[in-house]
Amino acid sequence: METIVSGIRPTGNLHLGNHFGAIRNFLKLQEDNDCYFFIADYHSLTTHPKPQDLHGNVKRVLVHYLAAGLDPDKATLYVQSQLPETAELYLLLNMNAYLGELQRVASFKEKARQQPDNINVGLLTYPTLMTADVIIHRATKVPVGKDQQQHLEMARNFVNRFNRMYEVDFFPEPFAYNFGEDLIKIPGLDGSTKMGKSEGEANAIYFVEDPKVIRKKIMRAVTDSGPTEMNQTKPQYIENLFNLLRVMSSPDTVEYFDDQYNKCEIRYGDLKKQLAEDVIKFVTPYREKIEALWNDEAYLQKVVKQGTEKAHASASKTMNELRKIIGFLPF
Ligand code: TRP
Repeated sequence: METIVSGIRPTGNLHLGNHFGAIRNFLKLQEDNDCYFFIADYHSLTTHPKPQDLHGNVKRVLVHYLAAGLDPDKATLYVQSQLPETAELYLLLNMNAYLGELQRVASFKEKARQQPDNINVGLLTYPTLMTADVIIHRATKVPVGKDQQQHLEMARNFVNRFNRMYEVDFFPEPFAYNFGEDLIKIPGLDGSTKMGKSEGEANAIYFVEDPKVIRKKIMRAVTDSGPTEMNQTKPQYIENLFNLLRVMSSPDTVEYFDDQYNKCEIRYGDLKKQLAEDVIKFVTPYREKIEALWNDEAYLQKVVKQGTEKAHASASKTMNELRKIIGFLPF
């Protein structure tokens, strides 16, 4: 039994890549760990400072999580901005973080390049806020991808620095939780190896998408005029389609098209049609649940209230002890 924290920035609807990369594995984690899965709406202000549909995007993540089977009675599901202790801890951590080390973070440098007119301090202190998210529950495991490894390394630095400075052993070091073989990478439809939102609309298949849209997207996925030699190795964009097929379709289907490919008899149109129908079959029950949850305000309210209370219980315990350690004593 470990304490696990993971956050996701609310940027819109979730796609197959989100599901197989993370959410599906959260379902297992929630069974025998103390899990906190939250929606990082504070963080989203570093890149999306306008309130345009912020609430809608938070709600979108929440209903996707619930539709996928995250259980509010097992895991703690909450919204970052509903847990103001996070902001307090963030403030305190910032007193102990150096400008130089924050400026050297790769994600900061990249974001500064991407949005030169808005290099806000929130971008700079992204790692201290993320550290606060994790250590507010004194978590030890953080399921995140490669792009977040440096942030976790910083979190360990902050934790160790804090413990040393106050001569305590208060915060445990958080480590990335690696799903290992359970991690299924979903390729994009545009030939890139990763399905993602930032790669553009046509790259990803979203759970809420209409079957017609899904068919159209898959039919337009990148292919070529077909192999010319027997048993030819597949170019990446074709391998991608086969990889999707492996996740979405039956082994027989994969074998059939693989044979066709090796015999130079493959018709990509047929493969795509089959893939589209299998994706639609997979996605449809989720879409139906998402739609039902979207309109069930009373239930969502109950879920968020319950999650906030559980998160608050854990966070306030940490903050009470922390205030004592720092020397903020009550009169
Ligand atoms: N930075 C993470 C991302 O972009 C989101 C995040 C914020 C997070 N706080 C976190 C992830 C705490 C894990 C733990 O993916």
